[in-house]
Amino acid sequence: MKTLIKNIKELVQVEDNIREKVCGKDMAELNTIKNAYLITEDEKILDFGEMSALKDENAHTVIDATNRLVFPSFCDSHTHLVYAGSREIEYIDKIKGLSYEEIAERGGGILNSAKRLQEASEDELYEDAQKRLDEIIRMGTGAVEIKSGYGLNTESELKMLRVIKRLKENSPLTIKSNFLGAHGVSMEYRGRQGEFVDLVINEMIPLVAKDNLADFIDVFCDKGFFTVEETDRMLTQGRKYGMRPKIHANELDYSGGVQVAVKHDALSCDHLEFVGDEEIKVLLNSNTMPTVLPGAAFFLNMQLSPVKKMMNAGLPVAMASDFNPGSSPSGNMQTIVSFACVNYRMTPQEAFNATTINSAYAMGISKTHGSIAKGKIANFYITKEIPNLEYMPYYYGVNKVDRVFLNGFEYFSQN
Ligand code: NIG
Ligand code: FE
Repeated sequence: MKTLIKNIKELVQVEDNIREKVCGKDMAELNTIKNAYLITEDEKILDFGEMSALKDENAHTVIDATNRLVFPSFCDSHTHLVYAGSREIEYIDKIKGLSYEEIAERGGGILNSAKRLQEASEDELYEDAQKRLDEIIRMGTGAVEIKSGYGLNTESELKMLRVIKRLKENSPLTIKSNFLGAHGVSMEYRGRQGEFVDLVINEMIPLVAKDNLADFIDVFCDKGFFTVEETDRMLTQGRKYGMRPKIHANELDYSGGVQVAVKHDALSCDHLEFVGDEEIKVLLNSNTMPTVLPGAAFFLNMQLSPVKKMMNAGLPVAMASDFNPGSSPSGNMQTIVSFACVNYRMTPQEAFNATTINSAYAMGISKTHGSIAKGKIANFYITKEIPNLEYMPYYYGVNKVDRVFLNGFEYFSQN
């Protein structure tokens, strides 16, 4: 089945040769075609170009995109969107001045989400997550990575991962799952963190692998959470069982997380508020995508990752939502692009590269997603009538997406 989108005001992020990622100064370049057409066949992109070059207007569906732009769907490479309940009370406590530690002492934070998740049924978790997926699709996301990590015990971690597997099977989104057994330590294991790490290594990882429940393995490697040595042990075991590392690092301190991520050839290392010359040097000699999460930095009012410094050094940068109930209760990638521009002084072009092609790399799918290229999966959206691509981050806070196509099929239309 063929679909033709014609009279596109500007077709964004087009590629003749597929790149796996965009680095340093090249991030400022975003290839576009003005007054363009796009043709899809079944689930793939067949052709695109200037309207003047369009030869054949025959297609099953023809859509006129006059005054509208077409973008490749966002790839959101870091989320925790399977969770139970919400944590707005902690949000108020934070506003009133309570620290993360004080909230945790009251049973808040990750422990709060873990308690609720343990009590929730698999069906409840699935239905809530489906609603969140529907929400992010309508805002332009076409692929998403989802982590476990609110289980804090074997049974609940497996439950979370089974929910993610069901979402993968039933959602039009491309989904990757990440096993984050080491997100925090449950009350039961307080003071016995080493034994918890042993549990992750000896029990959880083999069971997760047995049922093929995770593409990746994650660890929260940071001050007050898991040490470099513990991370090293868990990643070694995860890799043995076929899971590529993709970890949380350097959100709270120079934790050594970047170094251990690179040592294990991690696909990405995420957060990166604390990055100095040493970390940049290590990342430059690696296949690891530095990934920044502007939503969490905004919501927690944290110091910002030195994104410009990383790009000036020649590094690629990806950005993702970190959608989770504690530190980033939003999966809106359009807002992430606005934060990228305002807070990190990225140009809209750099911000779109960070949230499409580079975030596709950070979830291992940049050969098939993250740009408009022949043969890639036809995941894209048509905007409302807007003047140009800069308007996307500028007119922030509302949804500029009008129609969404996933795997070549129209999934959502505002009309
Ligand atoms: O990515 N940094 C670690 N974990 C999550 C938040 C966890 C929570 O508070 O629920 C994050 O921000
Ligand atoms: Fe996270």
